[in-house]
Amino acid sequence: MNETSATPAPPRQHRAHVTGWGRYAPSHVLTNADLEKIVDTNDEWIVSRTGIRERRVAAADETTASMGAVAGLRAIRTAGLEPDDIDLILLATLTPDYWMPSTAALVKEAIGNTKATAFDVMAACSGFVYGFATAQAYIQAGLAKHVLVIGAELLTRFLDYTDRSTCILFGDGAGAVVLSASDEPGGALGIEMTTEPQGAYMIWLPAGGSKAPPSAGTISRGEHYVRMEGNQTYRFATKTMATTALESIRRSGLDPTDVDLFIPHQANIRIIEAVAKGLDLPMDKMFINLDKYGNTSAASVPIALAEAVNEGRVKIGDNVTIVAFGAGFTSGAVTIEWTADPARGLLGDAAVKPEDVTVRLPVDWDSVDPIPDALAAIMNRPGSLDVPLDDVAPGEPEPAPAEVHA
Ligand SMILES: CC(C)(COP(=O)(O)OP(=O)(O)OC[C@H]1O[C@@H](n2cnc3c(N)ncnc32)[C@H](O)[C@@H]1OP(=O)(O)O)[C@@H](O)C(=O)NCCC(=O)NCCS
Repeated sequence: MNETSATPAPPRQHRAHVTGWGRYAPSHVLTNADLEKIVDTNDEWIVSRTGIRERRVAAADETTASMGAVAGLRAIRTAGLEPDDIDLILLATLTPDYWMPSTAALVKEAIGNTKATAFDVMAACSGFVYGFATAQAYIQAGLAKHVLVIGAELLTRFLDYTDRSTCILFGDGAGAVVLSASDEPGGALGIEMTTEPQGAYMIWLPAGGSKAPPSAGTISRGEHYVRMEGNQTYRFATKTMATTALESIRRSGLDPTDVDLFIPHQANIRIIEAVAKGLDLPMDKMFINLDKYGNTSAASVPIALAEAVNEGRVKIGDNVTIVAFGAGFTSGAVTIEWTADPARGLLGDAAVKPEDVTVRLPVDWDSVDPIPDALAAIMNRPGSLDVPLDDVAPGEPEPAPAEVHA
């Protein structure tokens, strides 16, 4: 056997196609008028500076895992798959249910998957795009056939409702896609990702990690809440969103004008307008839904993608660029040639009712009311759809029958 024939052939490179997509947003709406009641702000300022009109707030019985599981299951149904067809689950979040286990592990159980490897991706608001790119790499390397990528966030429990410069921006929700291996043309094309640590303390959450473990002191100083230098973040975002998207498009062998729809991270309408200007594109190429959800961090791109497809903004053969930026500073973009039937998204939504998806709760653990005090009065207003906490408190084992009849 000569040297050439003994060299193993390189593994075949598969393509990663988006075959499923789904989203979930909690039913409770927090409007700008609601925020006017708890912090010194007003609707005119928020709309003109950010474009945000309202955002969603998770109910007491909801968590990052529960929202991610609903969105993930919807994406699986859209793809026409069963949960056990998924062999890798990647969940992007900066607001996990717990520091450990991973939220992905909780989602795996909740959706009824018994086979997948599951882990979380931490890259703040760029997390979903980083997860998408990771899934694409696994598929191309032949290590996975169907990957579920979820972006899920419950930011309203990590906000300081006395800080008007941050608490007006963020909301809760989840979105997901299924990426499937195929040798057909199209699917995910060029990837670009950047990390610039000089921005590490521009958006951060100081306490709770190994540098500043939680204590009465960290809590009294409000160090368990998101902090942000808005102006520096704004400057980074406008520059990096355009350059990152451009590099992904270039690596796909395309020009910006070849892209039919951009799905940008939904942080601020002015940032998205600057990106459109930087790429010399009209705003109707930018999908916008931040007016309804605010900034849902890692969930923002997959929620927007699922909504854009379900609203008929994407058709087979279209080029779509997803692009995000976030704490780190991180940024990421992937350009996709769309190959799935857009009509399937509504099937996925209809197939999964949120009340049918359950995340297993811990036992022997005191129940806590997770709703921030500042939001409690608004959340409990008449007409709220929230489930009473007593019905859902984690850690309360079912009473034994003997106790019930005693
Ligand atoms: C946060 C952000 C909307 C602030 O907008 P801005 O135009 O930069 O506003 P500034 O921070 O310069 O503040 C201008 C004034 O508005 C005030 N202000 C800040 N928040 C306010 C609010 N919610 N309501 C009313 N006034 C507010 C400030 O106190 C300041 O007042 P002053 O001039 O009297 O000092 C903007 O910087 C931004 O979007 N940055 C990026 C944030 C982001 O995307 N983060 C997520 C990253 S993934």
